[in-house]
Amino acid sequence: MNMYDIIYKKREGGILTKDEIDYFVKGYTNNNIPDYQAAALLMAIFLKKMNNEETFNLTASMKNSGDIIDLSSINGIKVDKHSTGGVGDKTTLIVAPLAAAAGIPIAKMSGRGLGFTGGTIDKLESIPGFKTSVETEEFIKLVNNSNLSVIGQTAHIAPADKKIYALRDVTATVDNLSLITSSIMSKKLASGSDAIVLDVKCGNGAFMNNLHDAEKLGELMVDIGFADGKKIIAIITDMNQPLGRAIGNSNEVIEAIETLKGNGPDDITQLSLTLASYMIYIGGKASSPDEGYKMAVSALKSGNALKKLIKLIKGQGGNIDVVNDYTLFPQPAWSVEIKVTREMMMDENGGLSEKKYISNIDTKNIGLASQHLGAGRATKEDIIDLSAGIYLHRKLGDSVSLGDVLATISGTDYSRKESGIKEVSKVFSFGNIKPEKQTLIKKVIMK
Ligand code: URA
Repeated sequence: MNMYDIIYKKREGGILTKDEIDYFVKGYTNNNIPDYQAAALLMAIFLKKMNNEETFNLTASMKNSGDIIDLSSINGIKVDKHSTGGVGDKTTLIVAPLAAAAGIPIAKMSGRGLGFTGGTIDKLESIPGFKTSVETEEFIKLVNNSNLSVIGQTAHIAPADKKIYALRDVTATVDNLSLITSSIMSKKLASGSDAIVLDVKCGNGAFMNNLHDAEKLGELMVDIGFADGKKIIAIITDMNQPLGRAIGNSNEVIEAIETLKGNGPDDITQLSLTLASYMIYIGGKASSPDEGYKMAVSALKSGNALKKLIKLIKGQGGNIDVVNDYTLFPQPAWSVEIKVTREMMMDENGGLSEKKYISNIDTKNIGLASQHLGAGRATKEDIIDLSAGIYLHRKLGDSVSLGDVLATISGTDYSRKESGIKEVSKVFSFGNIKPEKQTLIKKVIMK
């Protein structure tokens, strides 16, 4: 077997065998296959696609490329949650405490942000002192003590994905169904939880732009998880605008804390309660998602979920005072308001409208704008500015008039300010008719 023949076969639209997929994954992980051959195969997969069996085999091979975490010393059904990637998505910081407060053990390994999407580990690191790198033994102890720990994925979990993802990122091969599925599921299956709730993002700020593709991704991931013996549910949710109002790191943690205090934006609150309800249900603590929802509401209203977050921060060395004193988070050096300009309010006939509606938000580009302000990374090596970010004062369907504030952008690096203003000003589109409200929860896929 050799790489040339495998690339050639896929280039011609052939179906790769399990052995051929294993050969590629093992060889590339062990540095025996060069980047140029791996890149050629990824592009052939991107263009000719993989069938379900190939995707199953690719996932298994990537999962088995590293450690499989054993969480059996934690009592109960361990439930994991994963988002396929969006903008302003801080739900893990809310959902995990909600489910933990309802009795679900959450041993969560999360990732960092890359490109236009954010990552939970970066957000948590904006809490002074918070340790995201914890040995497995300590991780298990934390979950046994308080039902909740969130740590960064170790380098030993699905190392094949680390290499392949980095290569996909620079070869325009990220947004492929089989490659996304194998990337996410290899890590989830290696992380040791018994059950998984997947938040499959759908819209102009997600890898899957339309419902059809998001459904295919959700169904395939559910099939793969189920075949591996996991309880698994995929929920397709809207990503046609950022979730909540905050995009960044510190500001997203503050919004998550506010949500746990009962003051969160509606979309974040509703989505978090829904995801938590399915986690509580799949974890066997509720007999239906509806009952799970009631338990999640009760965890929110009683303040028990907020207490879980405080315990999480304390257990991992963070300063719990941040919960009541937001000045303890990294602070930006500058902030600028982006306002509605005359140009934005101009009609086709050259007149000036008194009132318009926000008809579209280019979510991917607002994610990229946040990255360019310093809140995200263009490459894995970039150091992020935890204080940088965007706060949306107006969202889809809101009415606006001349001079209204659309967003506030902030950061530490003054050289990023002017381009930030330009980028964020461009993400909004305006119309004279109020657009229809997007459905937040689009579909639930379960076996
Ligand atoms: N998240 C991942 O972990 N992998 C992908 O390919 C896409 C999103």
